Amino acid sequence: MVTDLAKKYAAPVPRYTSYPTAPHFSPFTDKEQYGSWLQELDPAKPVSLYLHVPFCNQMCWYCGCHTKITKKYAPIAEYADALRAEIRTIVKALPTKMKVSHIHWGGGTPSILSADDFKSIMAMIDDHFEMLPDAEKAIEIDPRTADAPKIRALAEAGINRASLGVQDFNPVVQEAINRVQSFEMTADVVTALRANGIERINFDLMYGLPLQSVGDVIRTAELSHELKPDRVALFGYAHVPWMKTHMKMIQDEDLPGTDQRVQQAISAAEKLVELGYVQIGLDHFAAPDDEMAIAYKEKQLHRNFQGYTTDAADTLIGIGASSIGSLPQGYVQNVVPIGEYKKLVLNNGFAVAKGIAVSTDDKIRRDVIERLMCDLTVDLYEVLAKHGETPEFFAEEIARLRSFEQDGLIRVESGRVTVSEQGRYLVRTICAVFDTYLQNGAGKHSRAV
Ligand SMILES: C[S@@+](CC[C@H](N)C(=O)[O-])C[C@H]1O[C@@H](n2cnc3c(N)ncnc32)[C@H](O)[C@@H]1O
Repeated sequence: MVTDLAKKYAAPVPRYTSYPTAPHFSPFTDKEQYGSWLQELDPAKPVSLYLHVPFCNQMCWYCGCHTKITKKYAPIAEYADALRAEIRTIVKALPTKMKVSHIHWGGGTPSILSADDFKSIMAMIDDHFEMLPDAEKAIEIDPRTADAPKIRALAEAGINRASLGVQDFNPVVQEAINRVQSFEMTADVVTALRANGIERINFDLMYGLPLQSVGDVIRTAELSHELKPDRVALFGYAHVPWMKTHMKMIQDEDLPGTDQRVQQAISAAEKLVELGYVQIGLDHFAAPDDEMAIAYKEKQLHRNFQGYTTDAADTLIGIGASSIGSLPQGYVQNVVPIGEYKKLVLNNGFAVAKGIAVSTDDKIRRDVIERLMCDLTVDLYEVLAKHGETPEFFAEEIARLRSFEQDGLIRVESGRVTVSEQGRYLVRTICAVFDTYLQNGAGKHSRAV
């Protein structure tokens, strides 16, 4: 049944980590406008920082992120200088020493930075921002490159949450994705993180990988549980070899079909729930006492470029090549090529290449999409009232939702849309009903399940 629906609604859809989504950002020619947006920020409100490090030691064939392979440290050292330069430029534009509630280091592999570079950038952030006492400082880690001194340095720099790329524990799948990482290696890194006081651990798992079976995802969930991560993300592999040529190393015939993908997603989810995790939205699981499970229960969960987040700040400042920032006025994205990024920021400029100012219409639709993605339910009339609009605003969307209702994916009752358990995996398709930009960029997104 769910498989039939997944096939029916197979059209590509965005992951809705923002609205409007990144393919709809346009060239941002007036870089100074970004400076004005930063200057206009409310000095009383905390901001979050996202720092992107686009380097890895080895390419994982499934990788959909902005990264570059390097075995040498020199390009990474130069990049660390560039990050410092960009931070200086941003700090100059801000109205005051801003409070920070969240820092997220993403990649690529941010833990590829040397202990000294990492600590110096974190110290610089500490100097130029006012860190809130309970600020979350998170980093994505590749367990294959996180040795004991590196982990100690992360802890000394204040890191208190680590996301580990795991994907699947079956060595056959690992070979097929060019990422061989034993259970023992992952276990050792988890032990070292906890021994150094980094208690909050997330695992990234994936389904839909080459040569992966339903048994593999269940086993991976069980093995993961032995290491007690507080959160587990379970991403469906997005195969876009026309955008990421290294994905051509994955043979089409090795990829699970829609039926198997659906079975894998559901089986892994059922196993994680059986093991005690709270299922959140499309692809997250959290231990009941984790902040994410609590935020979910209290309908305080948010969605940003890292996926689901407890971060409630309305400003996320992106730092680094390709990073995306979200400000009250709109979104901005830095240039992607590392060389271009370095040139711009080392000349004391901003590196913004694209962006979009958000209109009131965007904000209404963004609120609806965020609530649907996070809570799987939204009161459309409540959102409209908050923005001073009447129920007629969504008359067309409500009419279009009828076919989803007939298929049992949602219930619509006096303006409240509630996604059914069957509809959970198609929530992005339901969100797409509210997306007025989609007609122009549909081909750029990945499959719904
Ligand atoms: C931004 S990546 C960086 C993590 C880190 N470099 C590592 O892999 O160890 C974070 C996660 O995104 C997921 N991911 C990467 N490429 C993906 C793709 N094409 N489709 C779905 N998920 C993907 C993986 O689960 C990965 O661990």
